[in-house]
Amino acid sequence: MADWDPELYNRFRRYRAEPFAAIMARLEFGGAERIIDLGCGSGENTAELGRRCAGGAAVGLDSSPAMIDRACKLREALEPALRGRLRFVLGDIREFSARREYSMVLSNAAFQWLTGHREVFARCFQALAPGGRLVVQMPANDHETALTTIDALAHEQPWRARLASIRLPSSTVAAPAGYLRMLGEIGFAGVDCYYHTFHHPMGAPAEIAAWCRATALRPYLDPLDAVARESFVAALTARLEQAYGTRGPLTFNFRRLFIWARRPAP
Ligand SMILES: C[S@@+](CC[C@H](N)C(=O)[O-])C[C@H]1O[C@@H](n2cnc3c(N)ncnc32)[C@H](O)[C@@H]1O
Repeated sequence: MADWDPELYNRFRRYRAEPFAAIMARLEFGGAERIIDLGCGSGENTAELGRRCAGGAAVGLDSSPAMIDRACKLREALEPALRGRLRFVLGDIREFSARREYSMVLSNAAFQWLTGHREVFARCFQALAPGGRLVVQMPANDHETALTTIDALAHEQPWRARLASIRLPSSTVAAPAGYLRMLGEIGFAGVDCYYHTFHHPMGAPAEIAAWCRATALRPYLDPLDAVARESFVAALTARLEQAYGTRGPLTFNFRRLFIWARRPAP
């Protein structure tokens, strides 16, 4: 798949930052945490984590060269003390492997891009020191109008032959009860899984299409040439105007799944 576009992704940074702000509001820091941020994107969240652990360190890992390049530039611009405890590495979460190295494994809006969550969470467990914390957030919004419309359009002519087999990224995300059971079986304690829906005021349905273009639409646009891509986005925008019943301001409701857990201390 084509690389991420950090510029487009950050166009709605204010709204995309809300789930991480919710995590930070609940997280308590001792100041000496060793943190890994899996799927760190352009690094702003990792830097914030680093800021909160003056005696620790934070690593951001991401498989997108464009995102890691952006994160490294962000790091270079930071004050030396923070820069010194922050590191960004190019790598695949599916190959991430560490043994009792971290006191916190965090991932914000990245695991939905992966299948095989049991294996991924088992690796997170291995990476945590006893007593270490896991915090994960994933979009779980496949039922929302924009997402169901993308899926419906992909099954219609003239897109069907190229796009019908593509699944929405969040189709990998199970219900909270599934993770509650799975994480318990892996060995995690204190597992807490819940949905939270964020409400984002948007200027028009076209903005929701632009939001999706940076994320959920990526696998659908990838097989198309430049002309077909614009044509798909235009068709989607028209459909969204119909479905939401407006060409003007509206609220984009975005449900996300939060997972908190701990590796038991001996
Ligand atoms: C929606 S962005 C979230 C970025 C950041 N965590 C944030 O909250 O702003 C998802 C990120 O996950 C990364 N990602 C997706 N699959 C990955 C994988 N298998 N390994 C590492 N990173 C991955 C993407 O490159 C992208 O930067």
